[in-house]
Amino acid sequence: MPARSRSETLFHRARRAIPGGVSSPVRYYPPYPRFIRRGKGAFVEDVDGRRYVDHTLAYGPLLLGHAHPVVGRAVREQLADGSIFGAPVELEVTVAERLRRMFPSLAMVRFVSTGGEAALSILRLARAATGRPGVAKIDGGFHGSIDQLLVRAGSGAATFPSSDGVVGSPTTPTALLPFNDVEAVRELLGTRDDIGLILIEPVLGNMGTILPDPGYLRALRRLTREHGVLLAFDEVITGFHAGYGGAQGRYGIRPDLTMLGKVLGGGLPLAAYGGSRTLMSRVAPSGAVYQAGTYSGNPLSLAAARAVLGWLTPARVRKVEAETQALVAGLKAVFDDRGVPVEIPTVGSMFSVFFSDTDVRTAADARSSRTTQYLRWAGNMLEQGVFLPQSAFESLFVSTEHGPSEREKVLRAAETSLARATII
Ligand SMILES: Cc1ncc(COP(=O)(O)O)c(C=O)c1O
Repeated sequence: MPARSRSETLFHRARRAIPGGVSSPVRYYPPYPRFIRRGKGAFVEDVDGRRYVDHTLAYGPLLLGHAHPVVGRAVREQLADGSIFGAPVELEVTVAERLRRMFPSLAMVRFVSTGGEAALSILRLARAATGRPGVAKIDGGFHGSIDQLLVRAGSGAATFPSSDGVVGSPTTPTALLPFNDVEAVRELLGTRDDIGLILIEPVLGNMGTILPDPGYLRALRRLTREHGVLLAFDEVITGFHAGYGGAQGRYGIRPDLTMLGKVLGGGLPLAAYGGSRTLMSRVAPSGAVYQAGTYSGNPLSLAAARAVLGWLTPARVRKVEAETQALVAGLKAVFDDRGVPVEIPTVGSMFSVFFSDTDVRTAADARSSRTTQYLRWAGNMLEQGVFLPQSAFESLFVSTEHGPSEREKVLRAAETSLARATII
């Protein structure tokens, strides 16, 4: 019998102490996940000493790659001064002001620790502001591990699609809308007057990457206004992978409420939600919508955020976008040469590879793509030193540290993987 790798040994130990051996379901893939020892720039190294070009990038936060010196320095400096005070710090003000400048829709923001917490807070705020308890979400949208939103959700919830213990509201069930379907929005808002909020990822990022049709987000904005319904953009992924000012900047839409996370904390736990002064003034202590957290606005995370936002410029974001386009064009050429039909929806520094003969415009389209073929491909890429999400229902990311030499490695691995008959 071949000796077990260190990852395999650790996974056996992990399964005894941690459910499924992982702290979040997406991290598991068969036969066992690679345990990572360190990351630098565009690369990670596993505990067996193998290096991978990383296009999973922790599912989104690492727009600046691993262990970026600017982030490391900021966090170390803050740590030397203490990590948490239970009192306001100047960093909160600095980062909030910066977000206001980057996102015209954000007059005020509240910092929390995770995207899921931001989603919970937005649900509560929307109920308070509209007096309506109902929420609509998109089929395939993922907003964290939250009962009301864990309905036909993407990401790991698409791979492991059912959850025991989730309580929906019997009186106001969460409404589901297919992505890119304006008629469905019109019909829903025409028939259910208990809906106070539509929460949407403006680019779906958790079923792979699925782009909004031209005009879709604008129609959503118009219809929600007409019906007095709040529109919230979950930009936990798209801020800042879809562009410097998020998807709202890219597509020119002003939502009522916005969630940010992932990139914002540069690899440390940080998220935020925000919107107009009128709406956000309802949040305690200025208003009566209670929301609180020990780690909210944590100084270490905020130091990382200030470093990330200070380092990101429109030009740097455009550069990583150009690198993404070059990678995607290269991949497309490799697949075309082999006659393997794929769709590669791309925006900013996020994309995904669907083994599909047709456009992917909805979560249903993503589900009916050849997901087993994707898994075989991604598994093969992993063996060749390229770490892609081991699920067809995740986006791939590019960081500012990825360049032509990493691209070359990925394209060579893609050619080899397709030459192996098992992939096709
Ligand atoms: C779009 C989106 N919203 C919200 C979340 C939840 O964020 P967190 O995992 O920080 O709770 C995620 C996480 O993957 C996400 O992709």
